Amino acid sequence: MKIILIGPPGGGKGTQAKLLVEKFNIPQISTGDMLREHVKNETNLGIAAKGYMDSGQLVPDQLILDMMETRFQKSDCKNGYILDGFPRTIPQAEGLDKSLKKIGHQLTNIIVLEIDDNIIVDRMGGRRVHAPSGRIYHIKYNPPINHNKDDVTNEELSIRDDDKEKTVRDRLKVYHELTSPLINYYSNKNIVSTIDGSLKIDEVNNKIINILNNKWLKLE
Ligand code: AP5
Ligand code: MG
Repeated sequence: MKIILIGPPGGGKGTQAKLLVEKFNIPQISTGDMLREHVKNETNLGIAAKGYMDSGQLVPDQLILDMMETRFQKSDCKNGYILDGFPRTIPQAEGLDKSLKKIGHQLTNIIVLEIDDNIIVDRMGGRRVHAPSGRIYHIKYNPPINHNKDDVTNEELSIRDDDKEKTVRDRLKVYHELTSPLINYYSNKNIVSTIDGSLKIDEVNNKIINILNNKWLKLE
């Protein structure tokens, strides 16, 4: 399974990717999580990326493509992956096509999460994350077992720097301008499925699993 999750910021890509990792045992590759790790470790890439991320803008395509080229070389990519937040622009999609051709991979599914901007703004105010693992919670829709504590480590949860309403609105603008054209870019491949991302977390998850199962049953 070589899956791309496309959706607006706060659309549920990370939440769904984590559920798919558990179900299908393939890695989640989140460029956002990778970049946040670089920022935390103050690498050259992290230092270059921080300003863009804090202001809700995209990190330049070439930096992302270089980072992903290295990521695809890891052995856990052999049996598939869930790309969460990449590609984000047409040049990134073209770069991805080239990388996949080089390693002989073909995308199997593009899942698009569709959701209204106003629901997103409401959701993002309640997001809490366990930064070291990338585990995602919501104070109302997916609360942790203990107040503001990660379910696995019991460490304190945090709020992402870019979850302020103004930055969320800027990220939504960037999504509509630069990322949503990808849906059209991939439409001729016949592997695009669109899902209503405003449904409950488990309802969205069931729909994705149905799509993936149908695809694999057909191939068997
Ligand atoms: P990134 O980390 O990828 O952020 P994003 O795409 O803006 O998306 P989010 O992670 O904010 O949302 P999500 O869709 O994962 O939703 P989640 O599951 O958390 O990127 C951050 C920044 O890095 C970018 O702005 C950019 O600067 C840079 N960057 C990253 N990749 C890049 C690239 N390829 N090129 C250039 N720059 C790049 O859910 C959100 C909340 O809602 C959570 O609290 C969750 O619990 C809750 N929730 C989820 N689903 C539901 C549901 N169905 N019902 C109710 N609540 C729900
Ligand atoms: Mg995410």
